Amino acid sequence: MMRDLVYVPSTCKIEDIETPALIVDLDKLERNIDRMARFSAESGVNIRPHAKTHKCPIIAHKQIDKGAIGITCAKLSEAEVMASAGIKNILIANQVVQRTKINRLASLVRLADVMVAVEDPGNIEDLDAAARAKGVTIPVVIEVDVGMNRCGSRSVEETLLLARKIAASPNLELRGLMGYEGHAVFIKDIEERRARCAEANDLLVKHKEALEDAGFEVSIVSAAGTGTYDLAGRNPGITEIEPGSYIFMDTRYGGIEGINFEQSLFVLTTVISKKGPSEAILDAGKKAVTEEFGLPRVAGAPGWELTKLAEEHGFIKATQPACELRVGDKVRLIPSHCCTTVNLHDMYYCCRGEFVEAVWDIAARGCVR
Ligand SMILES: Cc1ncc(COP(=O)(O)O)c(C=O)c1O
Repeated sequence: MMRDLVYVPSTCKIEDIETPALIVDLDKLERNIDRMARFSAESGVNIRPHAKTHKCPIIAHKQIDKGAIGITCAKLSEAEVMASAGIKNILIANQVVQRTKINRLASLVRLADVMVAVEDPGNIEDLDAAARAKGVTIPVVIEVDVGMNRCGSRSVEETLLLARKIAASPNLELRGLMGYEGHAVFIKDIEERRARCAEANDLLVKHKEALEDAGFEVSIVSAAGTGTYDLAGRNPGITEIEPGSYIFMDTRYGGIEGINFEQSLFVLTTVISKKGPSEAILDAGKKAVTEEFGLPRVAGAPGWELTKLAEEHGFIKATQPACELRVGDKVRLIPSHCCTTVNLHDMYYCCRGEFVEAVWDIAARGCVR
């Protein structure tokens, strides 16, 4: 169990925090982690939560304390931060390409069990050569494109060729397959989501069966995000799921039928200017909250809505009837995309009720390499 990094006096209240600030409601965060842990226990699927969402080793340790088998990372530098903080089992669900990065990966596997996704024969050769030079073995999973049109093998034949290439690489170890159905996770209608997800997961399992028929051992088949965790997690061919956003949620996932995790993250802002009864300016703009999935939602200030984000300012308008706001009042914004909003902040202010209980470093913030 990892200890919280910074404790603050128990008398510090949310309203005393300097804004803009990223706030986590600990009760809700803990219930979300527990809920996913219960799903794992009931369904028998392993959970390897995606740490790209929180980028915080303390949260990763909390997920592992509640039964997660390890974590997923999007980037090598994220995995380096997590391994340095004592996380022992990591899947980099992405390609690591470039000689210097591959050398870093070959060093990292001494510190933790770090698997990496592969999909290119030349990259497999580079990984094997770097592992040989360092005297280590790099575990790999073959990434399969299950319909998202991103990275990954696009046919069973290609997967078999990659597996043979890995088998012929003395310093690589084939662990299995990963295939993220990112094109299905945000489908609002639950029946359509179920159908698209099943198609993608079944395709991944078809690749697994082809590998097994050819004599390969496949111990890992990894899939799923928050929108599909329960669908993929109940597919008997999937061994582990890698959801990220469920711990925080956001307005985009909040609108997805059947995804019932609690909204535990918000950006606290302050009204710095008031223009008449129905216009106000907040101290948070695009540098404090992202908007690629739509404008954030105002919470706790009935009748007010955000109309625009500038670099350092947020513009809110009242639609009648609205509560009164004055300069200095606090306004909460619910992000439309939690993962990219987190990456704008250095720390979480972790609150229980109205009090700040701890401050956690977002240690992998900015780790995009
Ligand atoms: C490879 C991979 N796995 C899992 C996820 C799931 O993340 P989330 O639960 O935040 O949708 C993502 C999201 O982008 C991803 O890229």
